[in-house]
Amino acid sequence: MSQSCFADCLFILFGATGDLSKRKLIPALYKLIEDKKLCHFAIIGAALEPVDKLQVLEQSKPFIQNLNSAVWDTLVQNFYYFPMDFYHGTMYNNLRPLVAEVERKHNLSGNRILYFATMPQHFPTITKFLLESTLVQAKQSGSPWTRLVYEKPFGEDLASSQALNNFLRQAFAEEQIFRIDHYLGKELVGNIALARFTNRIFEPLWNKDHIESVHISIKETLGVEQRGAYYDEYGQLKDMVQSHMLQLLALTAMESPGELTAHNIRNAKAAVLANVNVDQVLQGQYEGYRTEPRVNPASTTDTFTAIRLFVDNQRWQGIPFYLLTGKALDRKETTIEIRFKMAKCPLTACPSEPNALIFKIYPDDGIYLRLNAKLPGIAYEVAPVSMDFCHSCLFGPNTPEAYETLLADVMKGDQAAFIRADEVEMSWRIIATIIAQQPVLHSYKRGSQGPAALSSFYLPRKEES
Ligand code: BG6
Repeated sequence: MSQSCFADCLFILFGATGDLSKRKLIPALYKLIEDKKLCHFAIIGAALEPVDKLQVLEQSKPFIQNLNSAVWDTLVQNFYYFPMDFYHGTMYNNLRPLVAEVERKHNLSGNRILYFATMPQHFPTITKFLLESTLVQAKQSGSPWTRLVYEKPFGEDLASSQALNNFLRQAFAEEQIFRIDHYLGKELVGNIALARFTNRIFEPLWNKDHIESVHISIKETLGVEQRGAYYDEYGQLKDMVQSHMLQLLALTAMESPGELTAHNIRNAKAAVLANVNVDQVLQGQYEGYRTEPRVNPASTTDTFTAIRLFVDNQRWQGIPFYLLTGKALDRKETTIEIRFKMAKCPLTACPSEPNALIFKIYPDDGIYLRLNAKLPGIAYEVAPVSMDFCHSCLFGPNTPEAYETLLADVMKGDQAAFIRADEVEMSWRIIATIIAQQPVLHSYKRGSQGPAALSSFYLPRKEES
């Protein structure tokens, strides 16, 4: 076995016929086989549909680039499909002999990853039956190991996430539980803390004395497509803000964790989430949303949410953080913009744009610094210019997809890019305070920048005194 191979392991993938498995998880497993990280393994996909394994795998083919037939054959030979109703306890007892047979056939040592790519309301039931059928071992430490990976959203609200955490806590050690948010596996998200803490020029300015505001946005052009049944229950607030956006906020605003270990990073993020104070919320729904497939024709679900909040600690007192996310907008773009205060200006024609540090997570991944520089030939006039670190120009386009990185982390047992129980509960608490404000739902046009009311959402800029 090559040095770079991970420890042997059996994956059991619940929700194997779903959108996430098709588009992301199976292609990520394929890539890990191609990269010779996953060498000694088997995968059992489980879902309700009475299909066969080739039908499950074939639907992932369009999402795999430059498909190599030898790698594909390896995936096929190591893949099994088990149709099951997650709510029938006997099905888990029927799954057990297949697990034993597959582990024997592939000579696996008993390491297991249970991946919950299902709706969150199924998590407790599946977990309970797995325990009862002894397919997973409670509080297991050492080898062989059992790790459980729960997709986001983890729970549906504060109460359900607490109940799920309490249940899992009784059965498993926190080291066995991986609450996944794929944003934490994105290259540029991994760069936020590294850029800040490994460059002397940023950290001294990372506070209320120098920063005017922070803008985190995740804009999407797609509507809900075929996901109406799930999405209409959650909306943008629970689907995007609860995890992706609050995690980006926590990573941007956290204190230095010292060494970048899982324990330290999660402590630092939790401290931010504990101090969030939501000021204003603006929500919207795109025109035509109510006629999307499997959406309630009278739905009041938000497809757009903008939030102004403060982080009440010494570093950030009084500095607004703006979170904005929406579906069916004019562009697909994810950015974090740290907008600095205006410099004292010694010119008669002063710059109108403040300096900004922008993490571009999508598209044109990179880090951009907006500066003011002299216009050629004209005495003492400046214009905004950008210093660019274009990630793909320097490192090429083939950086790992988020799910590859995160699956690799699960296999290594590294939890730094996964969310801890307290973080998830604090995030749901923030969501509860937003819902309690009963924000008005504004309508907006598909392909626009969101509701017109957005223009009055931003606080006026403060000049350097
Ligand atoms: C998912 C949400 O977690 O993230 C989707 O459930 C959303 O609604 C998606 O479209 C966006 O991910 P990305 O990586 O394309 O920005």
